[in-house]
Amino acid sequence: MCSIIGYTGKFTAASVLVESLKKMEYRGYDSVGIATLDSNNILIRKGVGKVREVDDSLQLYKMPGQVGIGHTRWATHGGISKSNAHPHTDCDNNVVVVHNGIIDNYQQLKDNLIKQGHIFQSQTDSEVIAHLIETYLKKFDIKQAIIETCKQIHGTYAFVAIFKSGLVAGARLDEPLIIGIGNNGNFISSDVLGFLEYTDKAIFLDNYDIVILDDKNINLFDFNGNAISRPITQVAWELGDIDKGKYAHYTIKEIHEQKNSIPMAFQINRSSLEKTVDIISSSKNIFITGSGTSYHSALLAKYLFYKFAKIRTEIIMSSEFEYVSGALDENSLLIAISQSGETADVLNSVKIAKQHKAKILSIVNISTSSLCRLSDHYVSINSGPEIGVAATKSFTAQLAVIYSIIDNFCTNNRPLDMSTSMFSNILNEILTDTSYLEKIAEDLKSVRDIYILGTSYHYPIALEGALKIKELAYIHAEGIAAGEIKHGPLALIEPGTIVIVLNPEDETYYNVLNSIHQMKSRGAKIIGISNKNNDLYDYFIRLPLVNKYLYPIIEIIPIQILSYYLAIKNNANPDYPRNLAKSVTVK
Ligand code: AGP
Repeated sequence: MCSIIGYTGKFTAASVLVESLKKMEYRGYDSVGIATLDSNNILIRKGVGKVREVDDSLQLYKMPGQVGIGHTRWATHGGISKSNAHPHTDCDNNVVVVHNGIIDNYQQLKDNLIKQGHIFQSQTDSEVIAHLIETYLKKFDIKQAIIETCKQIHGTYAFVAIFKSGLVAGARLDEPLIIGIGNNGNFISSDVLGFLEYTDKAIFLDNYDIVILDDKNINLFDFNGNAISRPITQVAWELGDIDKGKYAHYTIKEIHEQKNSIPMAFQINRSSLEKTVDIISSSKNIFITGSGTSYHSALLAKYLFYKFAKIRTEIIMSSEFEYVSGALDENSLLIAISQSGETADVLNSVKIAKQHKAKILSIVNISTSSLCRLSDHYVSINSGPEIGVAATKSFTAQLAVIYSIIDNFCTNNRPLDMSTSMFSNILNEILTDTSYLEKIAEDLKSVRDIYILGTSYHYPIALEGALKIKELAYIHAEGIAAGEIKHGPLALIEPGTIVIVLNPEDETYYNVLNSIHQMKSRGAKIIGISNKNNDLYDYFIRLPLVNKYLYPIIEIIPIQILSYYLAIKNNANPDYPRNLAKSVTVK
């Protein structure tokens, strides 16, 4: 997924664009580029690397002009190179474009354009947009040229183009594109973080919307060229949330923010909770979907729905959904879990479920996202901007919301027998001194494999912990249901193999000890995470004593911190893990 920003106004565009791209870099960071309009010339500078690196080497901020567009790329079609970096121009440098999404039919479009004499400079799919606009500008005005271009594209797109006239145009289909209305100019961006420093007034474009703007006017059109209007939304987040403050990285800042974000997530708006419970009660069968970390939240929900509400749910990984969606019908409910609300696999699942007339309930962090617009109802996890690519506070906030929903659903068998305000004290205890986790990271930093075991509702946490270690520290990690170790994975255990075991004192405790014995006798090194120490552990990570059903929310935190320290010790950048992006808005 990429980040796009366009600006037209009183300021020098380049410096505005560079700062905006830095704030959105978590969306993709293989290469960077900026184009500005200076007098009647379109200037372009672009290169491989992060914004700061490319800005230092090419002095992006010095580019003249008050109209411009910028882009950070997460490569899909075409390798990571200067020529494949955005922006891309047409043949005569009259129009320049930045794009987020995938153009499925780009090769056919490109072949046709080459036959018409167009010269391409990249291997990207995105470049075809510039040449299509060029073609249609020979017959139509900018608005119609944009519409005709969109009609040719099969796939997903959010693109912004600037022209020598100084106008800025944009269009979207299944990729976010947001207008920022500022006092000193207007913005068009893939993320509110791109303009939040200048304005909190935003227009969230819908699919098939076309926009043409300058520093004073914003004109929206539908696919037939008719003028349309969209509401102006005041974006709630304070800019302060996206500053690292005293922390070295967003990731560790957001891990520590959990002492506030978890209690906050438990405070769901009463009417929203009642509507959620009604929707669940009126559904005959419940499916839950998500990707990555959000899929792990879905798995935990399965255990909780069964244990406390005696409701059977079916969990389907979003990327697998289209292959097993036949069971949904008008009596079904699909619960879609997504931090960003823009993950293509999740949105695709929701669209398929709606084709089967299922109801959609979503659990999201960004309440202005596409997923919210597609849902019959959504519950916000309220954890504020999560900049670190690895999901941390959004995961535990998702869990808190799931617990709250089930707690309100099971009036006579509630899992939450404690005031959740106690959570802040408990989390303070875990987050205050993490030096012992840094020492463990020092011992583990060069290992090749780490296994994480958990049983029952600790198993999703084992999977999530393994994902954190993989994506932050680039160490192979595998989550395993503790009881399964003897059915094969035990063959991997040899003297010194590192095994983290989630083993608080609950109904899984003794079964998990059995699994630990089986590994210990084969030389494994055990890192026990529990409220109670045991001689079997080579390392012990203490958990505060809590209501035993709530351990899943807190036991992931030491693993998040351990993964962060492992990243640092392996010289990985925890905020921008290689090859990844914060929200994968492409399939
Ligand atoms: C989690 O650490 C990863 N960044 C990734 O697996 C993420 O959870 C997944 O892409 C889903 O994102 P979403 O919650 O925004 O839909």
